[in-house]
Amino acid sequence: MTAVIETRALEKEFVRGEHRVRALNGVSVSIDRGEFVAIVGKSGSGKSTFMNILGCLDRPNGGSYFLDGQDVAGLSADERAELRGQKIGFVFQAFNLIPRTSALENVELPLIYSEVSRAEQVRRARESLDTLGLRDRAEHHPSELSGGEQQRVAIARALVNRPKLLLADEPTGNLDTRTSLEIMAILEELNRGQGLTIVLVTHETDIAAFADRVLTFRDGEVVGDETQTSAGRRRRSAPLEEGTGP
Ligand SMILES: Nc1ncnc2c1ncn2[C@@H]1O[C@H](COP(=O)(O)OP(=O)(O)O)[C@@H](O)[C@H]1O
Ligand SMILES: [Mg+2]
Repeated sequence: MTAVIETRALEKEFVRGEHRVRALNGVSVSIDRGEFVAIVGKSGSGKSTFMNILGCLDRPNGGSYFLDGQDVAGLSADERAELRGQKIGFVFQAFNLIPRTSALENVELPLIYSEVSRAEQVRRARESLDTLGLRDRAEHHPSELSGGEQQRVAIARALVNRPKLLLADEPTGNLDTRTSLEIMAILEELNRGQGLTIVLVTHETDIAAFADRVLTFRDGEVVGDETQTSAGRRRRSAPLEEGTGP
C-alpha cells in the first residue's frame, strides 16, 4: 500500500499578540490510498490546522509532510498550489461557493488554469454535476439551492480535477440530519466505489461512524487511532436512519 499522506512530528504554532498557541504538537500520521478516515476531537484541538496543512493551504513550523510521496516542505508557494490543484479536493463546512455565479461556473473554477480546452472544461464540469445528481441545477446560483445541494456543488467542484484525496472539514456541520446522511452516503460511495481517499473532520459520532478509521485529536496531538470494522460501521450507522424522518 502506498501512503497518500505521511506526516512526521508536525508542529504548528500561531502567534496571537503576546501569546503563542501550539495548535499541533508532534502529529505523525500515515494514511493509505483508499482509506476513509474521520478526525474527531473537541473544538480547538487542532483538527482544522491539520487539514489546512494536509490541503497545502498552510505550512507547518516543524516536522514533515509527504503528499503522495512528495515532500511538500521543499516546494515553493506556486508549486504547492499546483500540487493542491492536481491532487486535492477540499470541501468546507460553509460550502464556500462563489455567490451570483451558476453551479456550473463554480464547478468549472478549478479547471480554469488547466490545459484542457474550454469545451472540455464545460464537459467535465457538467459530468461532475451529473455524478452528484445536479444535472438540472447547473444554471442555478448558490442562493437558489438548498444547503445539501450547495454542498453537492462544492463536492462536484472538489472532484472535477479527479483528485486522489478529498479533504472535508465538517462538511455536514451546516446541514440537518437527513441531509447530512445524504452527503455521507455520497462520500461513502466515492470511497467504496471509486477508491477515493477521504479525510473528514467531524465532531458527530454518527458521522464518524461512516469511516474505516477514526483519529482523535486532543490539544494538538493524536490521542486515538482506531480502525472500525465494516460490521461496526453498519451497526453504528443503522440507528441513525430510523431517526431521520420528519
Ligand atoms: N489563524 C490562527 N491564528 C491564531 N490562532 C489560531 C489560528 N488558527 C487556529 N488557531 C488556534 O489553534 C488552535 C487549534 O485550532 P483549530 O485547528 O481551528 O481547531 P479545531 O479545528 O479542532 O477546532 C486553537 O487554539 C485556535 O484558536
Ligand atoms: Mg475546525
